[in-house]
Amino acid sequence: MKLQVTQAKEITGEISVPGDKSISHRAVMLGALAEGTTEVTNFLMGADCLSSIDCFRKMGIEFSRPDNNIIIIQGKGLDGLSEPEDILDVGNSGTTIRLMMGILAGQSFFATVTGDSSIRRRPMGRVAGPLRDMGAHIDGRQNGSTAPLAVRGGTLRPIEFNSPVASAQVKSAVMLAGLYAAGETLIREPHRSRDHTEKMLAYLGAEIEVSDNVVKIKGRPNLVGKPVEVPGDISSAAFFLVAAAAMPGSRLTVKRVGINPTRTGIIDVLRNMGAKITIHNEDVVNGEPVGDITVLGSELKGTVIEGSLIPRLIDEIPVITVAAAAASGETVIRDAAELKVKESNRISTMAVELGKLGARVTELQDGMIIRGGCTLKGAVCQSHDDHRVAMSVAVAGLLARGETVINNVECIRISFPGFAETLAGFAKCTYV
Ligand code: S3P
Repeated sequence: MKLQVTQAKEITGEISVPGDKSISHRAVMLGALAEGTTEVTNFLMGADCLSSIDCFRKMGIEFSRPDNNIIIIQGKGLDGLSEPEDILDVGNSGTTIRLMMGILAGQSFFATVTGDSSIRRRPMGRVAGPLRDMGAHIDGRQNGSTAPLAVRGGTLRPIEFNSPVASAQVKSAVMLAGLYAAGETLIREPHRSRDHTEKMLAYLGAEIEVSDNVVKIKGRPNLVGKPVEVPGDISSAAFFLVAAAAMPGSRLTVKRVGINPTRTGIIDVLRNMGAKITIHNEDVVNGEPVGDITVLGSELKGTVIEGSLIPRLIDEIPVITVAAAAASGETVIRDAAELKVKESNRISTMAVELGKLGARVTELQDGMIIRGGCTLKGAVCQSHDDHRVAMSVAVAGLLARGETVINNVECIRISFPGFAETLAGFAKCTYV
């Protein structure tokens, strides 16, 4: 499938975006491990989160869908999962495979996990390593570091783990294994990554302590099912926030979006680039802050993005490169080597695709330099089967003269069903 996007005049109006992907995954997994019912509203019915549901169904958990974006999970407690008869297939979802490995490490059964060709290229040793240290048996391709992976769980011991990467998936896998270890598991990360697992575990009754970059969790808690409202996904909102910010005269509000500070790097960066952003109607749902975000378009200028900011906007870097191409001056992104091991190598895929539209991007080992101030022109581009690349190029298409075509956009359903329909509210946007 191809998506054709034409240049927009301005991005003005009010939209909402689907539920947060990270929080939806955690609701599935922690709802399964809690005792009793967890009703999840505004659940993201994206392909990745449906993969999480599918895997936990294969381990004996019942899910129902009484309404479009609502799921009800019948949790069975920490020891309620059963051995899956077949391979657990996570599709394209890194969050599913890594977090689920943490849970599988604590089970008294055997499971095999795999995913699509992108998942089978991505590094899993970063999760398998600490889980082995806790006592799990994990083997797989490339010396047990890539999927398919076989996990035989068992009795786990708590560890003190210094994570070499600021990764919420690694941190969460060890925390979830820590639920099964007798005693306290400690995780330290180089920079703080998103803390949705900590927040949801605390909400459902776990004993968890967080200070700076350190998390401590006590094993064998009593998790109890509770209602969960999933905030709108700031990573999905980011596509439209960038489009509006980069187009003078625009005024866009995105309603009820998650504004957890571990995720709001995109707001900080757009403000640094000169956008006017306000947040209103603030609220807290199941420990997660939410609010309406309003952005006014202006002439953006280049910026520097590095260090502890990186994990706070890692998934937004593809669309930030679009803002940078439209801005005046130079934008430098450093300390972001993690981009190379996402759904695609996002340093090279974004450099190549933006280059086709006329942007000047230099790849670095751990980031990129974007020289702004040139006029973008429509072109024929590729998604590289990466949902965020596909949507970022579509946003570039809103800013580019003429028409942009993006090939292979099926992947958009991974995180943002309805993206094209929302985009069509601002410019001509059709599947061709
Ligand atoms: C996620 C964490 C991030 C992010 C991914 C979702 C999560 O990955 O890129 O899209 O839900 O925990 P890392 O933790 O590997 O950086």
